[in-house]
Amino acid sequence: MNEKKVLFTIFGATGDLAQRKLYPSLFRLYRKGDLVESFAVIGTARRPWSDEVYRNIVKETIVGLNPTPEEAEAFSSHFYYQSHDVQDTEHYDTLKKLSDELDQKYQLEGNRLFYLAMSPNFFGTIVAHLKSQGMLNVTGYHRVIIEKPFGTDYETARQLNEEIATVFEEEDIYRIDHYLGKEMIQNISAIRFANSIFESLWSNRFIDNVQINIAEDLGVEERGGYYDKSGALKDMVQNHILQVLALLAMEPPVAFSEKEIRSEKIKALEAVRVYTPEEVAKNFIRGQYSAGKFDGEAIPGYKEELNVDSDSKTETFVAGKFVIDNFRWSGVPFYVRTGKRLTEKGTRINIVFKQVPVNVFKSSVGATCEQKLSPNVLTIYIQPTEGFSLSLNGKEVGPGFTMLPLSLDHRNSAEVISNTPEAYEKLMLDALNGDGTNFTHWDEVAQSWRVVDVIRQAWDQDSSDVPQYPARTMGPKEAYDLLAKDGFEWIWTPDEWYRERNLLD
Ligand code: BG6
Repeated sequence: MNEKKVLFTIFGATGDLAQRKLYPSLFRLYRKGDLVESFAVIGTARRPWSDEVYRNIVKETIVGLNPTPEEAEAFSSHFYYQSHDVQDTEHYDTLKKLSDELDQKYQLEGNRLFYLAMSPNFFGTIVAHLKSQGMLNVTGYHRVIIEKPFGTDYETARQLNEEIATVFEEEDIYRIDHYLGKEMIQNISAIRFANSIFESLWSNRFIDNVQINIAEDLGVEERGGYYDKSGALKDMVQNHILQVLALLAMEPPVAFSEKEIRSEKIKALEAVRVYTPEEVAKNFIRGQYSAGKFDGEAIPGYKEELNVDSDSKTETFVAGKFVIDNFRWSGVPFYVRTGKRLTEKGTRINIVFKQVPVNVFKSSVGATCEQKLSPNVLTIYIQPTEGFSLSLNGKEVGPGFTMLPLSLDHRNSAEVISNTPEAYEKLMLDALNGDGTNFTHWDEVAQSWRVVDVIRQAWDQDSSDVPQYPARTMGPKEAYDLLAKDGFEWIWTPDEWYRERNLLD
């Protein structure tokens, strides 16, 4: 029996994340038998909701999963709502009383999982009160899941970490980076460490460059207020991109365990060069989307979005080159690119292999064979399509000797994708199982901030205009120049397909 006994306490229970991700994920775990009878959820937030209102909201959030009315009723009956001001000590006493009651009622054995899904300003206050008001004075495990952003720079992250570490042990702190819950991100390790053909080529001897793309077609939607203070560098590079980079660059762990993987990821991140301001200017560029037109539809620019400053200099796009100063990767650029309002939503990694030492097809066999060989590229498709492909060169069928790019492709079927557990579901289950492999350790967070802080500081001191790119293109010209000056180009160019069909200028 997989059944977990646990009391969840969700801070930020009325918020977008709880409704879009947490409740549906808990329902999936319920359906699969990980949560059965011995679980309860206390939702807290400032709004004065009753249990009934809360349960109805929870039911609404799982409609897409087609529960039967009985299932929805039974599941939501485990949810309790507590109106709560996180700064009011007395409110924690009420919360403790309810927690103890539910502990008895559902026989939860004192296991408590606290989920902080609200403004990070309050994380420190919340954990301090959990301890001071005795909410952790029960037998059983006590774990805390913390949503991003974990700080806004190294210093604020360090302070936050100190506050949390006075209450929880590092092994009980689960810092979420939801990319680590994605099926194909977890597959990076499988591709690397279960295939000798790749692992033997995985170094500067055979790899020319690595390209990590996380593109989004949407703009900032209703999150302008948060995003305008954050920008793409802090929103995406400090966490998701650097985590993916660490998984690609780390040494093979001696065992596939939380401890060994963490230790290798940390070493990889520590080898990422922390740039000087001059190096930032050479290796990182930013952009901001301006108004654009896509398939005849006009799309507003970033400065026209809701809750965004009309003079904003916030970047909605980042492209850059990381270098990793160790034996394996010296000389191999890791290019990264992420942004809002790009042509398509897509996360994909391209591992670009070196060309053969001599192109024998170029000069010796005659005019028809004077052609450029395409590099071999291993592409890992993270989302929305999932799978990988390897591009090779072959001979075109026919009398001459014309080289042709070919592709070995594996894509997960739509059925497999639709049955793939959602990232949040997997991460919640990991936290219930006490497995921190797919969460970020403090040392990783700290090093990522050190790498990103110097970029942010260099940009903050640069008064020049932020390069603009029309909405639904793949970023400003500077992003292309960045690779061109090294003699490379972006492998993924989804905009070309649309331009050829006159859907994009
Ligand atoms: C979040 C960012 O961490 O990741 C968002 O704050 C972004 O701005 C999101 O849209 C992207 O996640 P996904 O899973 O849709 O690729």
